[in-house]
Amino acid sequence: MAIKTLKDLQVKGKTVLVRVDFNVPMESGVITDDNRIRQALPTLNALLDQAAKVVCFSHLGRVKSEADKASLSMKPIAEALSEKLGRPVIFVPETRGTALEAAVKELKAGEILMFENTRFEDLDGKKESKNDPELGRYWASLGDVFVNDAFGTAHRAHASNVGIASNIAESAAGYLLEKEITFIGGAVDEPKRPFVAILGGAKVSDKIGVINHLIGKADKILIGGGMSYTFLKSQGIEVGTSLVEDDKLQLAQALLEKAGDKLVLPVDFKITTEFSNTSPVRIGDYTDIKPDEMGLDIGPKTLAHYREILQSAVTVVWNGPVGVFEMSNFASGTIGICETLAHLEHATTIIGGGDSASAAINLGFESAFSHISTGGGASLEYLEGKALPGVTCLDTV
Ligand code: 3PG
Repeated sequence: MAIKTLKDLQVKGKTVLVRVDFNVPMESGVITDDNRIRQALPTLNALLDQAAKVVCFSHLGRVKSEADKASLSMKPIAEALSEKLGRPVIFVPETRGTALEAAVKELKAGEILMFENTRFEDLDGKKESKNDPELGRYWASLGDVFVNDAFGTAHRAHASNVGIASNIAESAAGYLLEKEITFIGGAVDEPKRPFVAILGGAKVSDKIGVINHLIGKADKILIGGGMSYTFLKSQGIEVGTSLVEDDKLQLAQALLEKAGDKLVLPVDFKITTEFSNTSPVRIGDYTDIKPDEMGLDIGPKTLAHYREILQSAVTVVWNGPVGVFEMSNFASGTIGICETLAHLEHATTIIGGGDSASAAINLGFESAFSHISTGGGASLEYLEGKALPGVTCLDTV
C-alpha cells in the first residue's frame, strides 16, 4: 500500500501542521548548510499556494538544559525560511500554550507560522523524544491535517511525527519525504541493474547493517574511507597506524566471506605519517603501508578501478566519503568519485546523506546527482532496509 502524499490532500482553508527537519548545522547563530531548508520549500510553497494555513515546526540539536535554549532557538531559522519563501514567517517562541494557540487561530489562508524547537519539550521528561501521548495529542489538536516532510527525522518515533499522526484525522507525506522514499527505496528495492553501492566513512560498525542489507541487493559494493583498513587488517594485511576497529576484525572477515567478489576493497592509498594536511604524502599499494604510516584516501589505481566498475552502473547509491576530504591532500578520491558519478548520464545517482552529501555539495557537485538525501541516520536506516516510523505512521491510500 502506498502512503498518502500531498497530491491526495484538499488543504484550502485548512490548518496544516508540517513537520520539517530544519536541524541544520549552525556556527555562532549562522546557518552553515541550508540544504534541508531549501529542500522543504516545494512542500511549503505548494501548501501556501493552495491557501492552507501552515504551522511548521522542527527540532534543532539536542536540548539538555535551560542554557541550551538560547543557541537552539528556531528564530534564526524562521528568518532564513522567510527569506527563501519570499513571504513573512510568523515566529512563535513557544512550543505550547495560549500564545501559540492564539497565533494558530489568527493565521489566515496562505500564511505560515513556525513555532519553537520541538525538543524544548525534552527538558520536562523528554516529552518530544519519548513520544509523550499528551504532547502528540496537544500538537495534533492545533491543526486539521498533518504533513510529514522531515525525512531526516523519520527514523525517530517522536511526538512531533508519530505522536501527531496518531492523533489527527488525516496525515500524508510532503514532497521531500516522498522524493526520498522514491529515490532511496526505489534504488534499494527495485534497482535498475547493474546496481553499484559505494560505502565509505570512518567505521565498519556504522555500516554493518547497510553492507549486510546491500550484499543481497547490489551487484557490487565499493569500499572506501576509514573502514577499508579494518577490512584489510582482517585479512592479515599491515595497515600501520590507519584507523582500525580492532573489535570488528572478525565481523569484517565474516562480511568479506559473505560478500565474495561483490565487495571490492581499495588497492592503493594516499599514505602519510600524521593525521594532518601538512605532513608529506606518498601513494602506495595496499600491501605497502609501513607500521608508522596511515592511509587517508584511496589512491589513483583504486579510483581508476572504481571508475571502470561505475561506467556500466545504472543505479548508484553512495554513502560516506572515501577519504578525509576536509583536508585537501586527501580529497582527490572523493572528488574523483563525485566527478565519475556526475558524468554517468544514464544512471540514477543517489547520495545517502550525511558527510558524503556535504562533500558533494561543498565540492560543487550538487546539481550533478539525481538525488542528495537530507537524511543522515534516516538514510542509513533506510538503506539497511528498516521501516521508518515517521513514514509508517502516515495514512495510506
Ligand atoms: C539528523 O540530523 O540526523 C536528524 O535531524 C535527527 O537528529 P537526531 O539524531 O538528533 O535525532
